[in-house]
Amino acid sequence: MTTAGEWQPAQYARFSDERTRPFFDLAALVERRAGMRVVDLGSGPGKLTAWLHETLAAGSTLGVDNSDAMLAEAAAHATADVRFQRADIVEFARACAADGTRFDLVFSNAALQWIDDHEQLLPAVAGLVAPDGQLAIQMPANDDHASHRVARALARDARFAGPLGGYVRPDPVRRPAWYAERLYRLGFPRQRVQLIVYPQVLPDTHAVVEWVKGSLLTAYRQRLNAETYAAFLEAYERALIEELGTNAPYFYAFDRVLMWASRTLAAAAD
Ligand SMILES: C[S@@+](CC[C@H](N)C(=O)[O-])C[C@H]1O[C@@H](n2cnc3c(N)ncnc32)[C@H](O)[C@@H]1O
Repeated sequence: MTTAGEWQPAQYARFSDERTRPFFDLAALVERRAGMRVVDLGSGPGKLTAWLHETLAAGSTLGVDNSDAMLAEAAAHATADVRFQRADIVEFARACAADGTRFDLVFSNAALQWIDDHEQLLPAVAGLVAPDGQLAIQMPANDDHASHRVARALARDARFAGPLGGYVRPDPVRRPAWYAERLYRLGFPRQRVQLIVYPQVLPDTHAVVEWVKGSLLTAYRQRLNAETYAAFLEAYERALIEELGTNAPYFYAFDRVLMWASRTLAAAAD
């Protein structure tokens, strides 16, 4: 089940340097093999998908996303070898399992945290990887940070619980070791799974609100009318500043889990 709201590419593009750094760290983990068939799950605005295709000298790259707004941005990056498809990641994996479609590289940056139940999701995504292929996934793992705790507390608050229908954005992301163990059992003996703390220096504490408006809060924005969402945002900012204080700059320590795994034991020769 997907829990992302409708995306606003322009809001997401704010803090683009900070958001893209983990993408490049993830891409650096990939072993280059000429002509790979690549799939980028949750490809978003598509610029990085195109970059990945070029950098890896891939044979073909398919970006999969279920946001019309993001796909509209991605269209500018489509070529004969870089295509974008509107699909839910879980449905896409199911369809590929049914018709035997596999990829040499299954890549996903900052997307799978939007899908619940990783116990089911990880095998489905791993199933997309060809027999000698690679899997590379990056997800935020900062659900215990005030930026997320405050949103959860507000969602449970009497003012918003009703309009939200009891919805509280769940965090499906598990500990790095959990993924390492599962990946081993799923047939990925060679792997690098790591937790990295990204030191993000934002202009001030208020900028945290702008950050999460482009990601976490989209799930609440989608479920509230404009007036109630404006009240949610105001209450969120007040509670966040109360907890974090007003700091300029604000050091937003951001945990992320990065994992790369290969089905083969030997590194590629080329
Ligand atoms: C934070 S953006 C990351 C975009 C891109 N990978 C990047 O690194 O810039 C997350 C993307 O995942 C997509 N997404 C979330 N859940 C999805 C799902 N279940 N199926 C397809 N796309 C999904 C969203 O539409 C969004 O474009």
